[in-house]
Amino acid sequence: MALYPRETRSLVLKKKTTPSFGYHFDAVLETRPVPALKDGEVLVRIGAVSLNHRDLWQLKNLYPRTTADCVMGGDGVGTVIFAHHPKDPLIRRRVFFHPTRGWESNPDGPEEARLELLGGNPLGGIYSDFVVIHRMHVFPVPDYLPMVHAAAWPVAGVTGWRAVVIKANVKKGDNVLITGIGGGVALVSMQICLALGANVYVTSSSPQKIARAQELGAIDGVNYRDEAWPEHLGKILIANAKNEGTALLDSVIDSAGGDICAKSLKILKHGGIVVCYGMTSVPKIEFTMREVLRNVELKGSTMGSRKDLLDATAFMEKHRIVPEVSHVLRGLEEIHEGFKLLNEGAQIGKIVVKFPGREPDGSVRL
Ligand SMILES: NC(=O)c1ccc[n+]([C@@H]2O[C@H](COP(=O)([O-])OP(=O)(O)OC[C@H]3O[C@@H](n4cnc5c(N)ncnc54)[C@H](OP(=O)(O)O)[C@@H]3O)[C@@H](O)[C@H]2O)c1
Repeated sequence: MALYPRETRSLVLKKKTTPSFGYHFDAVLETRPVPALKDGEVLVRIGAVSLNHRDLWQLKNLYPRTTADCVMGGDGVGTVIFAHHPKDPLIRRRVFFHPTRGWESNPDGPEEARLELLGGNPLGGIYSDFVVIHRMHVFPVPDYLPMVHAAAWPVAGVTGWRAVVIKANVKKGDNVLITGIGGGVALVSMQICLALGANVYVTSSSPQKIARAQELGAIDGVNYRDEAWPEHLGKILIANAKNEGTALLDSVIDSAGGDICAKSLKILKHGGIVVCYGMTSVPKIEFTMREVLRNVELKGSTMGSRKDLLDATAFMEKHRIVPEVSHVLRGLEEIHEGFKLLNEGAQIGKIVVKFPGREPDGSVRL
């Protein structure tokens, strides 16, 4: 039986004395004591974590409530190795972390005044060797999913689920455009759309990423750096329209913001839906009378409730979805390489840090 660990290494935000290249914080490995377990708590040994664009926003001090000296990270998986209750059925189970607090099941938004996100704020984070957490904030990883791919799921899975299923109501046969397919959330959104039977089109800055999306099931894609991408996509849609189908998009799942509504207007059906879950390109989105006259609906979307995450995970398991992992780094020592890759937009799907010393599936031998 393993000994209860006394210390953990954690990746902590430290304010830079001189901000440089837009970065206000450093991410520093620090050794901290592991607290004793209280009623209902479990100790998780981390197997793998995955990076989100939010980590970069935090390092650049562009994310609300980012706080110095707090542990980073909201996305990952591990194995429960101790529990306050010695017969807790979660012991030895591989678990996901629930990345949000304050949102149980309300379909419209959090029940609490503010949605709290794990990582980089006083709620704490999971970029650590060991994490003490209440058992209600973890839930089991489906058996078929390797740890590295499981780590790529919670944030992207729940964000993609909410955008695709709840906001865009994507159905079999719909034509859906997903922008910036290299992104972690975009890629999972595509996998959910494909499992629903939709026809997926993508944009990207990279022909290689479009080709990879096609290997995974997208019909085609265009480069968003080409100003004429809507015209190119319009021709592709016409060429692909089945006899009974239409040559227009039913919905757009967007993470860039800016002029996406204007750009997609001519290829979006009357009453089409644009879901925006992020503004990586510009921190605003234009919506004009042209869109009103076409009855376009613009919907903002965030991560989701605990219920959304459980529903999304059940859907993932049913369809045996394996989240796409772009790069696997070894240990928290290499995480800065991940931040660099994310900042350069080098990824297609998620960047994962796998912790050494675990079983091949990422679990821990007790
Ligand atoms: N609201 C929420 O609760 C929530 C939850 C999760 C994420 N987000 C936000 O959603 C965005 C994506 O997050 P992520 O973690 O998936 O990020 P990510 O993995 O870093 O992906 C970002 C992607 O954005 C794409 N992109 C950049 N400029 C673009 C442009 N002008 N037009 C279209 N696409 C562009 C790039 O796609 P290519 O590489 O294909 O060029 C890039 O790979 C971030 O802004 C994040 O903060 C919000």
